[in-house]
Amino acid sequence: MPDVLSSLDTVLLMGPGPSTISAEVYAAMAKPTLGHMDPQFFSLMDGIQESLRKVMETANAATITISATGSSGMETVMVNLVEEGEPMLIVVNGYFAARMAEVAGRLGAALDIIEFPYGKPVDVDEVAKKIKSKAYTLIGMVHGETSTGVLNPIDKIGALAKEAGAYFIVDAVTSLGGVRLLPDAWGIDALYSCSQKCIGCPSGLSPVTFSDRAMQKIFARKKKVPNFYLDMSLLMKYWSGSPRAYHHTAPANMYYGLYKALALILEEGPEKVHERHAQAHQYLAAELEKIGLFLLVDEPHRLPMLNTIVIPAGVDDAAVRRELRSAYKIEIGSGLGSLAGKIWRIGLMGYTAKKENVDILTGALKKILKR
Ligand SMILES: Cc1ncc(COP(=O)(O)O)c(C=O)c1O
Repeated sequence: MPDVLSSLDTVLLMGPGPSTISAEVYAAMAKPTLGHMDPQFFSLMDGIQESLRKVMETANAATITISATGSSGMETVMVNLVEEGEPMLIVVNGYFAARMAEVAGRLGAALDIIEFPYGKPVDVDEVAKKIKSKAYTLIGMVHGETSTGVLNPIDKIGALAKEAGAYFIVDAVTSLGGVRLLPDAWGIDALYSCSQKCIGCPSGLSPVTFSDRAMQKIFARKKKVPNFYLDMSLLMKYWSGSPRAYHHTAPANMYYGLYKALALILEEGPEKVHERHAQAHQYLAAELEKIGLFLLVDEPHRLPMLNTIVIPAGVDDAAVRRELRSAYKIEIGSGLGSLAGKIWRIGLMGYTAKKENVDILTGALKKILKR
């Protein structure tokens, strides 16, 4: 059997995630594995909680990571907060918000969807009207829509949700770490993210945070959370119980990676990290324009860490991506759903968000597209 591991390429990850991993995070992940009930491991978990609160800019006690990818954060938030028959509104302008609706629907939420064109931000006035039309218990939406490259105005929708007394759920899988997020000030009751994008760790973890009010809703549920693995009341006994209660065999080396990745963000300074993402994005937009390529999304609704490029007429989407990967060892993403074949998705996330990476990519695109 050939040893595939020994011949793996080092690929510059410029798709929708995972992003490139720094040497420091790889080194952290290679530290000796500890047991999931080891006192030193508990100290590391405490450190993750502390750093997550800083990076997420929240005071929420219930701030932990789920031991699975971003989708598990989505499932965790929904399975804990949605009870059968509860009126819920999901604001949809992309693939991942549609997935939120799919997950909430499976849990029996009495679901309404307000939909906006993919590639455009949500219309706040329309959402305000919809929220006023019914007493919604829950409202959900995506901050950074990875499928389209749109940054949604969650601060404004959060204020509307607060006014209506609804629990506000936010998908920050792509946005966390790359743009400023203020869950407490913006009235967010539950937020989930991932490890593999702007945080700069491999995929496999999903940081989540729940407001005290959201935790009270979970404790007051009529029926138990229908999923043991994602039950926040059980998870909190593992993360901060006294004594700690076994819940699952936490993937220690993944947690080391997250611990280090968060420490690197705090060392650089979250504001500077956001600024680095913004600068890399602006530089990419300007460099692309020089070779006649344009972004799908209008200013000021562009997501800095995920840039959607309109594929020029006559250009073979898949052939370009194949050549980037084989000849230049660069990964970019394809379009999802109705945008498949129409856009490329270029990630400038975490450690990848640097001008020098933009130069490498645009240099390769120039040669492939002969521009
Ligand atoms: C906005 C958004 N939500 C949810 C997910 C699902 O996360 P994962 O693929 O880590 O399970 C993604 C993945 O890219 C995403 O971009």
